[in-house]
Amino acid sequence: MTTTTDVGGTAATDAAPSLHDPRTYDHGVPYEYYRWLRDNDPVSHHDHPAYPGGYWAVTRHDDVQRVSRDSVTFHNAPDPFLDDGRMGDAEGGGSSELLISKDAPEHIKLRKLVNKGFTPRRVADLSDRLRERTDAIIDDLAGRDGCDLVHDLALWLPLHVIADMVGVPEQDRAMVFDWTERTFGFDPAVTAEQRTQAMTEMFMYADDLASQREREPRDDLMSVLLAAEVDGEKLTKFQIEVFFMLLQNAGSETTRNLITTGTLALLQDPEQLEWLRGNLDQLPTAIEELLRFVTPVVHFTRTPVTDVELGGRSISAGERVLMVYASANRDERAFAEPDRLDLTRDPNDHVAFGAGGPHFCLGASLARLEARIMFEAILTRFEGLEVVGDPATFPRVNSNLIDGFAELPITWSAIRPAH
Ligand code: HEM
Repeated sequence: MTTTTDVGGTAATDAAPSLHDPRTYDHGVPYEYYRWLRDNDPVSHHDHPAYPGGYWAVTRHDDVQRVSRDSVTFHNAPDPFLDDGRMGDAEGGGSSELLISKDAPEHIKLRKLVNKGFTPRRVADLSDRLRERTDAIIDDLAGRDGCDLVHDLALWLPLHVIADMVGVPEQDRAMVFDWTERTFGFDPAVTAEQRTQAMTEMFMYADDLASQREREPRDDLMSVLLAAEVDGEKLTKFQIEVFFMLLQNAGSETTRNLITTGTLALLQDPEQLEWLRGNLDQLPTAIEELLRFVTPVVHFTRTPVTDVELGGRSISAGERVLMVYASANRDERAFAEPDRLDLTRDPNDHVAFGAGGPHFCLGASLARLEARIMFEAILTRFEGLEVVGDPATFPRVNSNLIDGFAELPITWSAIRPAH
């Protein structure tokens, strides 16, 4: 596909960036291209080596909502991941067994069951433990004056939270975190074989943990899921193990990138940062804006089961439709001055957790709680926090699905004790 207008400074006849190729995101998501698409070709067609009919990119906020909410026409099966064009890649292949790849009626039944592990009370009960974890992660940095925000700070809280919820014992965590990173991380040094090996080991571990909880139930998610029953039906052990894998993935990369890219956005806007420091009670509203501005999950796909008209285009049954959340969240038809970080923005109808419908992020309230606690700690405990170097040159995660940094060096003048 070629463009006829200037796209983010590229010449009029340059090939437009490929939305499925992870290299497109090496320097961040292509916001200028998205804007061009919204204005000129809001439901645009793209070729793809693995999809015979190519795919359709939906870039306007109201169209993304329409697709997301019409789950009768737009299905999640066979999977909602945009294949990245690299044969055999785990992310591109997706998995038809995951909750996120299911449709009604099976999805409704499964979701009701796993919801039992995510009640508001279970999430709220994690608050104190989350605060302790956050303080411990920052205490570990005492005596230093700089670190990598991704590896030394942001990744630990989301990993521990899932482990706390599921009931992974402390002594097993280093091993489980290592498998998680190798299975779902975007380190190009990890080979396909190492990835498969880590995934198998993690699956076997989940099987073992489920057997232990079957024998001796505790007050953790694994035990709740084993006992959960809806209309006389229970989850099988296999379904619980697959869900364990999905949680490791859905709960870790996403929140990590909200913390890292969100912190960077604040550091790049000192006025907003100072305002937030003085108005910590406004953190919930500010976090909604950070979610909109950062959009850690760039997109998901759906597959229509009947021919459908969208934005004046005719889409055939079976052709992938890409809901570009990162574009919808910058749509000037839905948000005033969308490229400006405005921590007081309210209402804020962002689609960072999905644009509504049955698959809306199951962990949204948990992610919001994690973000509130972590951002509060970052804002109150670090003095003289600064980014080291030019963020435009920092390596980013090698993915078309998740937007974030692989490394983000920071420095500070002092760390205050936790109160
Ligand atoms: C900032 C953090 C997060 C972001 C931006 C995010 C984003 C998303 C998005 C965009 C979806 C797809 C929604 C749809 O298709 O309508 C989703 C689904 C999901 N998320 Fe999250 N997520 C985050 C954190 C979490 C956490 C912490 C957990 C779990 C502990 C989690 C678990 C899930 C699950 C299980 C699904 C699939 C739900 C279903 O298919 O029914 N997410 N998330």
